[in-house]
Amino acid sequence: MAAQAPSNLLESKSSKLLRELLASGRPILYIMTAEEQRIARLLREGAEHFFASPLPYWSWSLTEGMVCSNGTKSEHDTTNPRAALDFVAQYQGAAIFHMKDFHDALKEAVVVRRLRDLYEQCAGKNKFVVISSPIRFIPEEISRNIVFFELNIPDFNEVKTFLEEQAAKLVASGKTVDTSEATMIHMTRALQGLTIDEAGFAIHRAIAETGHLGMESLPVLFEEKRLLVNRSGTIQYIADGAQIEAVGGLEVMKKWLLERRQLFLLRDSIGAELVPKGVLVMGVSGCGKSLSVKAVASCFELPLYRIDMTEIFSGRHGNAEWAFARACRTMEAIAPAVVWFDEIEMGITSSESSGEQGRIFAFFLTWMQEKVRGLFVAATANRIDLLPAEMIRKGRFDEVFFVDVPMDEERIDIFNIHLRKRGIDPTGFGVERLTKLTKGWTGAECEQCVVSAVTRAKLEDREMTLEDLLRTAGNIVPLSKTMKEQVDHIRSWARDRAAPASLGDHR
Ligand SMILES: Nc1ncnc2c1ncn2[C@@H]1O[C@H](COP(=O)(O)OP(=O)(O)OP(=O)(O)O)[C@@H](O)[C@H]1O
Ligand SMILES: [Mg+2]
Repeated sequence: MAAQAPSNLLESKSSKLLRELLASGRPILYIMTAEEQRIARLLREGAEHFFASPLPYWSWSLTEGMVCSNGTKSEHDTTNPRAALDFVAQYQGAAIFHMKDFHDALKEAVVVRRLRDLYEQCAGKNKFVVISSPIRFIPEEISRNIVFFELNIPDFNEVKTFLEEQAAKLVASGKTVDTSEATMIHMTRALQGLTIDEAGFAIHRAIAETGHLGMESLPVLFEEKRLLVNRSGTIQYIADGAQIEAVGGLEVMKKWLLERRQLFLLRDSIGAELVPKGVLVMGVSGCGKSLSVKAVASCFELPLYRIDMTEIFSGRHGNAEWAFARACRTMEAIAPAVVWFDEIEMGITSSESSGEQGRIFAFFLTWMQEKVRGLFVAATANRIDLLPAEMIRKGRFDEVFFVDVPMDEERIDIFNIHLRKRGIDPTGFGVERLTKLTKGWTGAECEQCVVSAVTRAKLEDREMTLEDLLRTAGNIVPLSKTMKEQVDHIRSWARDRAAPASLGDHR
């Protein structure tokens, strides 16, 4: 009797995985998750829908022993793990037995032995033992009999189903909820990236703050998500976006992004090879790499997450390879999104390098190839000479851009952007007079010049003038002068390897 997809619900990725594993007939599963209620619910739903006729769902805990979802308890005391496995062995008929926090019991040899016996007994009979635990502990002698997987955070469908249930409960308790499909989709997107429990907290906080649930709740949901996702340590939700209009110059890259945007929005209806996968932006510090990544996210209308390579390698999240893979998988569950690997050269160096780094690179290459369509990768790099050649050749990026210090017109563009940002209308201001003084400047230095000039005028309680800008500019020594050698090195290295992000020649 094969497991079937439930026909009434939008199937989530976790539910699908569970269904496929149960269908494969493997009788012992080990699911690593801190979300016990969620796995219990997925299993209960699976028992109900996956099979031609519903299966009983039994759950076991050290305090309660075996209890069936219909309220039945076992006749004998089954709080002891051995007694619990005996109960499963003697049980007549198909069923799912959910063993909560059973990892401790696996430290006893006799329990491991009984579990191995159960493997034979349960195989092919639709009798399943499912262990759930927040940690992975599988003794060697039983590892071949157990299918292990880690429950990813809930995907769009799972969050939406949860949100709809919560909305129905809130409505029943007299609260106002905008349950229109469009609002539900916006709120689901806002909650994506959280566990079910966390999504529950976020919803309650939104209700507590605004009294109802609807489009007005989105800022609260996003803020809650920012706090919670950031707590994971390796992934950061970046709330301060930038529009593509805030990026001065870099016309080639901006045009490219706007074209890719069309393809990305059509991702579900076009061939996989046409769906944009990602972009690698490398170049001189302060010339707008980070800014461009933020612009990609708003251009693609997606939330932006940053994977922190320093955290991955800090050892605070377990072994780096594992932490990296987990962060990538989490991002797939959060999709659609833009995922940003900042200073990618710090984590991913040559595949020839031994051990962990090489394995992380190999994982990254495969992952880029296989990852879900809704994830666009934006990687940035400064120390480009550290990047392995394969990252550029085989890194599976659609394009590799080199961002150089801005040319004359680009700097004017950048000055104008930053003046406007501070409420100054640059028309007729004569910014062009800065062109000569600012040769070789980075975008960050142009911004700094505007900030200093504005500050000086503010302190003297008057409007800022071009004179302020000219005077400030005279005092700034640009990075490209102080670090001429490095900048020249970056340039010559990138020239043959990447596409220039701007038109024209900088020399
Ligand atoms: N092309 C640009 N247009 C507008 N502003 C810019 C541009 N380039 C840099 N800036 C300003 O300089 C700031 C710093 O730039 P950004 O952080 O994007 O540089 P980066 O290339 O990521 O540098 P780093 O290598 O140090 O991380 C930006 O926040 C922005 O305000
Ligand atoms: Mg940066």
